[in-house]
Amino acid sequence: MIRIDNLNKTFGKTKALSEVNLHIGSGEMVALIGASGSGKSTLIRHISGLSASDRASGTLMLGGDMVQSQGVISRRIRQIRTGIGVIFQSFNLVDRLSVESNVLLGALGRTSLWRCLLIRFPKSDRELARIAMERVGIVETARRRASTLSGGQKQRAAIARALVQKASVILADEPIASLDPESSRNVMGILQRLNREEGITVVVSLHQVDFAKKFCDRAVALCHGRIRYDGPSTGLCDELLKDIYHSESDEPFVESESEIFNEPPDCDDEFPEGTVYSFSQLN
Ligand SMILES: Nc1ncnc2c1ncn2[C@@H]1O[C@H](COP(=O)(O)OP(=O)(O)OP(=O)(O)O)[C@@H](O)[C@H]1O
Ligand SMILES: [Mg+2]
Repeated sequence: MIRIDNLNKTFGKTKALSEVNLHIGSGEMVALIGASGSGKSTLIRHISGLSASDRASGTLMLGGDMVQSQGVISRRIRQIRTGIGVIFQSFNLVDRLSVESNVLLGALGRTSLWRCLLIRFPKSDRELARIAMERVGIVETARRRASTLSGGQKQRAAIARALVQKASVILADEPIASLDPESSRNVMGILQRLNREEGITVVVSLHQVDFAKKFCDRAVALCHGRIRYDGPSTGLCDELLKDIYHSESDEPFVESESEIFNEPPDCDDEFPEGTVYSFSQLN
């Protein structure tokens, strides 16, 4: 599914990715771990075609498509990206739109321009959005403004958007970094279910090694841009973790019950059904 051969990325004097070779099969769920600055986000950005590698450095294939080769991103990247759902720590929702509209944005890649401009989607996509919101447990929030959701609900909306997109791969960059432990388990559980039940390939970067072990069969650990470990997540022993994290003066993130959780405010800030929004209402 994802095939990376000899990928390198240099920022000035920083080698963010160094001779990365990685093959992820269709239907795998892989945790990407490593200290801050080890290259996790950079790798995810390269897989999604948002960043180009160093010139003359390697190739990155997704499915049968060449995402980039020798530092040049495919001309077909927009089309290739329609199959990739990218989820960020910061949720990337349009705060002023309803949850349903945000989820429907996943259908933009296959929607005509005039519908996009009006954010007006066919019934089939609206139905798909409803099913996706149900799947992740936020259907009752459909008509609320995205800004009124809790962090966990926002992340679930982002996952629902990837479902509407019909993504075959989900790349999640620290999706639970700003969530409390319960919401984190919930979001990781949803990703795991989608992986197991829908066969969606999931690559998820995590600071929480406990979560990597619990939810992902395979783990890839980066250290200074190099793959330091690639194997079963159960193989992430203390000695290895010490090596991975201490070498970059960062500690593995330990689940803490004291993390702050933003409860959704009581809010009547709802949108009437069938509301059509213009782009001027976007953030
Ligand atoms: N646009 C950029 N310009 C310059 N340096 C960059 C850029 N993006 C990343 N880097 C550098 O590349 C290295 C890898 O960064 P990256 O963001 O991929 O790490 P990370 O593993 O995702 O870290 P974190 O866990 O903190 O998110 C770091 O040294 C970072 O400073
Ligand atoms: Mg990062």
